[in-house]
Amino acid sequence: MNVQDSVALVTGANRGIGTAYVEALIQAGARRIYAAARNIDSLKDIVAIAPDRIIPVALDITDTAQVNAVAQAAQDVTLLINNAGVIGSGGLFTASSVETAQWEMNTNYFGTLSMVRAFAPILQKNGGGAIVNMMSVVSVANAPVFGSYSASKAALNSLTQDIRAELATQGTKVVGVFPGPVDTAMTEGLPIQKVEPSQVAEAVLQALGAGLEDVYPDPVSQGTFAAISEPLKAAEKQFAAWMPQ
Ligand SMILES: NC(=O)c1ccc[n+]([C@@H]2O[C@H](COP(=O)([O-])OP(=O)(O)OC[C@H]3O[C@@H](n4cnc5c(N)ncnc54)[C@H](OP(=O)(O)O)[C@@H]3O)[C@@H](O)[C@H]2O)c1
Repeated sequence: MNVQDSVALVTGANRGIGTAYVEALIQAGARRIYAAARNIDSLKDIVAIAPDRIIPVALDITDTAQVNAVAQAAQDVTLLINNAGVIGSGGLFTASSVETAQWEMNTNYFGTLSMVRAFAPILQKNGGGAIVNMMSVVSVANAPVFGSYSASKAALNSLTQDIRAELATQGTKVVGVFPGPVDTAMTEGLPIQKVEPSQVAEAVLQALGAGLEDVYPDPVSQGTFAAISEPLKAAEKQFAAWMPQ
């Protein structure tokens, strides 16, 4: 995947890692970037970085009609970065824990699925392109401090493997990103070592250029996956081979 001259769409572009993606894409020479956010006014500062190349887009990924309308308007996309995500707290045994878990699944899993379903034909039409999905180290082992979020990211990890297999024949590369803690609003108040959002975005763009499927962008991620990435990948490829040719 050549990031230079690509046309990217980044969800959740108004802050955190999403903004870092837009900045890194500008640096890497992307031709056009659709910066998507629920509140289009929150994108003003980001668009100001390169108003000739960044197009603000109103998009709630849980609103399927809006997802389809954005896809209709952004027919030139070659790189879809599914970055938007939410996290709840409080554990599984509070009064609202089922609603919290549903909100996380609706956004992190079903919202991403809607985006991929809407943009897969566009990527195919434009030569294959690539999809980036934001998982987490907690996709492979539950962190009970945000247990239902971990479950939603585990579901997204499984979904990402399916997308990779189903879109292989149309030449769409599918990249999974597994960060440890990153210094954004999402980890505010969590007293642990965190890396900068730019470290994640830059690692992902490098991985796209290098043709990698999985990105471990920081020391926590690299430590978590050091011993397990190979057997996990072997199992993924084994089960992907069950797909009819
Ligand atoms: N921070 C970490 O430690 C970490 C680690 C691993 C993975 N991740 C993943 O990285 C991604 C970015 O996280 P972040 O740290 O940058 O978090 P963040 O600062 O909380 O940003 C989350 C972004 O997602 C957007 N969003 C939430 N729900 C949405 C919806 N329904 N439709 C469209 N956009 C929506 C938010 O928009 P609003 O401004 O409208 O709320 C915001 O732009 C997430 O998928 C997260 O799970 C983060």
